[in-house]
Amino acid sequence: MQTIRLKHLAAIRWFHWINFPLLAAMIWSGLLIYWAFPTYSLGPIHFFPSWVYSTFHMDHRLADGMALHFFFMWLFAINGLLYVLYTWVSGEWRYLLPRKRTALRDAWHVLLHDLHLRKAVPEQEKYNAAQQIAYTAIILMGAGSLITGLAIYKPAQLNWLTELLGGYQVARMLHFDLTVLYVLFFLVHVQQVLAAGWNNFRSMVSGWESRDEREKRPAS
Ligand code: HEM
Repeated sequence: MQTIRLKHLAAIRWFHWINFPLLAAMIWSGLLIYWAFPTYSLGPIHFFPSWVYSTFHMDHRLADGMALHFFFMWLFAINGLLYVLYTWVSGEWRYLLPRKRTALRDAWHVLLHDLHLRKAVPEQEKYNAAQQIAYTAIILMGAGSLITGLAIYKPAQLNWLTELLGGYQVARMLHFDLTVLYVLFFLVHVQQVLAAGWNNFRSMVSGWESRDEREKRPAS
């Protein structure tokens, strides 16, 4: 029998969807800044060849980048902090944190299941163990971006923080690496959302999910 149930609270949906354009603005403006001193590469692959900047009109826009980055960072931080506070107060953190001792093994089984290499899937509540690990990691990454960002934003005033992180160069690299990880998370996240289907996506927009009571595992 099909039933409808509330899956995502309104506040969580707002925080989630507000975060998306904010993160996009942070990455975009961050790249405008990175253009001025593009030092990183992964072996022979450089972040990024100059044609990338010229094609997307991202070159010679350091001042724009800084202005946008230092404006949107406040919104990104406030939205993120309110989200964490809300999950705490509402008790939603219970669904998000991997609390079972078998979380790693369960996440591995979810992965094998998604790759069609395993039939059975572990019992789950709102999120499976792989989602719990990914969502907890992304929240910690958000905190990491804020901390490393502060360390390279005010390395003189906050020099204790910059030093704690291993110095300016290390803090800058960590800040950049976190951005790469966001992009990877985003690609996997959207792929998973596409694979889970319309019902799952709609629940993050409207809050409601339709569910087949005979199903053991919610479609997510
Ligand atoms: C096109 C962009 C995006 C789409 C379509 C999307 C879609 C979704 C959907 C459908 C869910 C619910 C999953 C489920 O119920 O199983 C979800 C949850 C979540 N997403 Fe996204 N998402 C997007 C971007 C992002 C970004 C950029 C981040 C963070 C960097 C993010 C972080 C999260 C987190 C942390 C949750 C769990 C929220 C909670 O329950 O507190 N998403 N997303």
